[in-house]
Amino acid sequence: MKRNLGIQIMGACAVTAAVIIAASTAPTPVAHAQSGGDSRVAIGMAAAPFPLNMAHKNPALVGLGSYFVNVVGDCNGCHSAGPPTQYVKGGNPYMNQPKQVNPATYLGGGRDFGALIPGSAHIISRNLTPDASGLPVGGDSFDHFMHTIRTGIDPDHLHPPCTGAPDATCIPAPFDGNLLQVMPWPNLKDLSDYDLRAIYEYLSTVPCVYGNYPGEPANRCG
Ligand code: HEC
Repeated sequence: MKRNLGIQIMGACAVTAAVIIAASTAPTPVAHAQSGGDSRVAIGMAAAPFPLNMAHKNPALVGLGSYFVNVVGDCNGCHSAGPPTQYVKGGNPYMNQPKQVNPATYLGGGRDFGALIPGSAHIISRNLTPDASGLPVGGDSFDHFMHTIRTGIDPDHLHPPCTGAPDATCIPAPFDGNLLQVMPWPNLKDLSDYDLRAIYEYLSTVPCVYGNYPGEPANRCG
């Protein structure tokens, strides 16, 4: 009896906590209705730094995707052009300013992480925004995107393994130049298909930006 009562009380607390969390995040009604009660959807939706192109998008997927991209995945920390332009002037939380992400660099890539071994290719983050086709990462299908995250294989082979002396175009052993470096695919690959779909869906709602990446097509955004 005592035990049962304990469980009942715990149950009541959990319900109260859920209500408080739901109320305090002020979810967008549509997202909440389609979220199946997952508060990450509303939290993610609220964390999106800019208005999203929601045409033909599934709000529950977009909200969850935003949760991964903007709340826990720090995609923009690496996939913007670098710390000096990640936030607008006066909007840098590390300077105790109210956070304001820079729309000009948001997910546009171009942050240079330098060379793994002196003299070899620099590792530079890629542009994740949609191109004029509306598909993210410059026109990736979902299968293509999922394959990249699951395997870590660089679909663009931008820095193949060196065959001779290392130079700025290749990556020498012991690193495998066929694989994306720095990018946390060894962790992200364990996300479920649904979670990856959510990230993909979110990335397809953000505005196209011209990144800082050498060789980016001049008409990327149409
Ligand atoms: C620690 C830094 C870092 C974080 C965090 C990060 N990335 Fe990356 N990502 C990179 C770098 C650097 C590359 C390019 C690596 C290379 O050239 O070897 C990359 C490459 C990629 C690619 C391959 C692009 C292509 O052309 O196919 C995708 C897709 C990608 N990242 C998505 C994401 C997403 C989505 C997130 C957040 C969930 C994320 N990344 C978080 C650093 C990061």
